[in-house]
Amino acid sequence: MKNKILITGGVGYIGSHTVVELHNANFEVIIVDDLSNSSVSVLKQIEKITGVAPKFYELDVSKYDQLETIFKENQGIDAIIHFAAAKAVGESVDNPLKYYKNNLVSLLNLIECQKKFNVNNMVFSSSCTVYGQPNVLPVTEQTPRQDAESPYGNTKRVGEDMISDSVSAYSQLNAIALRYFNPIGAHESALIGELPIGVPQNLVPFISQTAAGIREKLLVFGDDYDTKDGSAIRDFINVVDLAKAHVVALKRLLDKKNKTSFEIFNLGTGNGYSVLELIKTFEEVTGVKVNYEIAPRRAGDIEKIWADTTFANEELGWKAEKSLQETLLSVWNWQKNITN
Ligand code: UD1
Repeated sequence: MKNKILITGGVGYIGSHTVVELHNANFEVIIVDDLSNSSVSVLKQIEKITGVAPKFYELDVSKYDQLETIFKENQGIDAIIHFAAAKAVGESVDNPLKYYKNNLVSLLNLIECQKKFNVNNMVFSSSCTVYGQPNVLPVTEQTPRQDAESPYGNTKRVGEDMISDSVSAYSQLNAIALRYFNPIGAHESALIGELPIGVPQNLVPFISQTAAGIREKLLVFGDDYDTKDGSAIRDFINVVDLAKAHVVALKRLLDKKNKTSFEIFNLGTGNGYSVLELIKTFEEVTGVKVNYEIAPRRAGDIEKIWADTTFANEELGWKAEKSLQETLLSVWNWQKNITN
């Protein structure tokens, strides 16, 4: 019998790619998503890729009563992968309560349901944002966390703590937090990719929409950082590689291979690229110029970060495989597919 996995935020960017990989690994998937930053049409695209329409509930996980009905209707859920969250750093500064409600009330509700319905495993979307600007690079999982730069960042930090305290208190619960670096790219089918609603906040969708003529120009936030070319450095990880890590983490929990009840893994490539290098590489692989202009630094941004991936490579047995070139090409193929 297939294991039944509840995916919150399964219509979103990372969620949808993970749903595809879960299907490939023979899991049964139930998606809940409030469609606040995603389009229901993604479900059709998933169906085109996998041949199966995933079971879907339009629902806000921060509403406990609605969430509970899912667990009542779907007995025997084996694990949760919890993606559903808001993630715009700037917006979180202006509207912190939205972030605490969306990101933390939802998590609290899920853990309550886990206890009530004996769903003992969770994979949680965390972020490298918990490290702030580290003094030493690359960052390992032991690098100390720092005070968050934004309410968004704080929700990831507190979310990790809520899970850690819960698995300590309720011995049946096990969890893995995955600290994502900067997920980019699209599925090789060009049927799913990163399609935020409205103006993109993140770098790569802004690059591809500028290249496609949807945005007039990209602003590069800062060229006076202490880096090789003055622009900020990030660890850009392919979204399909990232999605596969969720399958590995899930199996680890289901097979009871986890060494402690709460494990944390960095998910990155181990390589840092600057914003300007990324733009240049995009132009090289696609042959399309990106109209950009240097602008002041963005509030809350850090200068540079990239992952030490040793623990994920050795303990999880997972490694990012796709190159930056093929990842950026996948973005462009997808962008062309949705623009035409
Ligand atoms: C941030 C969070 C990360 C979170 C992600 C989700 C921090 C430190 N990082 O990543 O945890 O998961 O958002 O959205 O809080 N840039 C431009 N022009 C643009 C857009 C971005 O130059 O139009 C630059 C940024 O200034 C930054 C880099 O590109 O230097 C990457 O930005 P972005 O894609 O927004 O991700 P992060 O801010 O790194």
